[in-house]
Amino acid sequence: MYRIGRIVAPLCIALAASLSGCDKPEPERMRPEPKPTRPEPKRMRVGVILPMTGLQSTFGDESWKGMQLAVEDLRKQGFNPELILRDEKSQKTEAGNQAKLLIENERVHVLVGSVASGHTRQAAIEARESAIPLITPASTNDTITVEGGPYVSRICFKDSFQGAVLAKFALQRGWKSAVVVVDKGQPYSTGLADSFKSVFEKAGGKTQFEYYTSGETDFSNTVQNAANHKADAIVITGYYAEGGIMIRQGKEKWAGVPVLGGDGLDSPELVGLVGDTKAEIYVVSHFAADAPDERVRNFAKRYEERFGQAPGAMAALGYDVLLVLADVAKRCPDPADSKALARAIAETKGVECITGRIDLTTPDRTPIKDAVVVKVEGGLKFQATIPAQ
Ligand code: PHE
Repeated sequence: MYRIGRIVAPLCIALAASLSGCDKPEPERMRPEPKPTRPEPKRMRVGVILPMTGLQSTFGDESWKGMQLAVEDLRKQGFNPELILRDEKSQKTEAGNQAKLLIENERVHVLVGSVASGHTRQAAIEARESAIPLITPASTNDTITVEGGPYVSRICFKDSFQGAVLAKFALQRGWKSAVVVVDKGQPYSTGLADSFKSVFEKAGGKTQFEYYTSGETDFSNTVQNAANHKADAIVITGYYAEGGIMIRQGKEKWAGVPVLGGDGLDSPELVGLVGDTKAEIYVVSHFAADAPDERVRNFAKRYEERFGQAPGAMAALGYDVLLVLADVAKRCPDPADSKALARAIAETKGVECITGRIDLTTPDRTPIKDAVVVKVEGGLKFQATIPAQ
């Protein structure tokens, strides 16, 4: 009885419903058949890996702010990705771990990150193994996209270019010898130093090398050894946390010697870290908030209104990586198809961004972009644009 009752009762309800439908037609039945619509594009799930804490935390903080601003803008244009942020804590292995977790547990369609090249390399290994695309906004080491293969790309220039820019800038200033101060624990730093050396020496410059390791805070030996070379300039290829303290500690021994650095020094904390040194400090980077360019000025103004601080290179690159993803989404309606997504990323062409036009159709999925030089003068002040070619 019990069994029959279970079957009979729903039948009765269905019958009653269809009967009542006969004398009172439902409004739906009167409407013409709806045309088949295209399936809604799937929401892109973006796994973001950044150093939100630790020695590189301003890189993470600025890029995340840039990304938030971009998402707010892009939503108005119909691109609404889901961003899932993970902190790699300024640690290489953590960047790899977080990439793996984002792929396996969060099932992200694409990874964005990280900043320091040695950290991105770890994440890129995971991306390559799982065939999930990864775009780094800021890692400049040449090998990242080559080792990573077709799933790995970047939206910034690479260090063979950046090293050449550093060398050309030094030569233009008439500096004929340089001490290159290198963080031996960071592939970014060693790679950039090598590319500076090769261009600088080819043009007749002389280089000497001094080394330190990330995380050190007492640079008295490095400062002394670098000073002993009596070079025309000091070139620091490391990150701001160590580079900034080193410049402050070199206040007396490096007096009168100009200091030049790569994008790793580009941080809102640099000015505070260098203290009251009188040294002339120049930084090669991707962006200057006060550059004479309308797009840049507008972005800088809006960023400052929103976050109460001028944007650095990482803020602009964080914004730009999402502009690229929005363009990719237009060409790849199903982000879950990772092969198609990787292909669409590699086919990116002519996307106008804050840091320049981005074209990823180069063999190593690396855009060819201009660099800027900024000078440390109470903030990072625009000096010059160095063209890409
Ligand atoms: N280019 C640096 C690297 O590859 C990271 C960086 C980019 C830092 C831009 C600051 C600004 O390690």
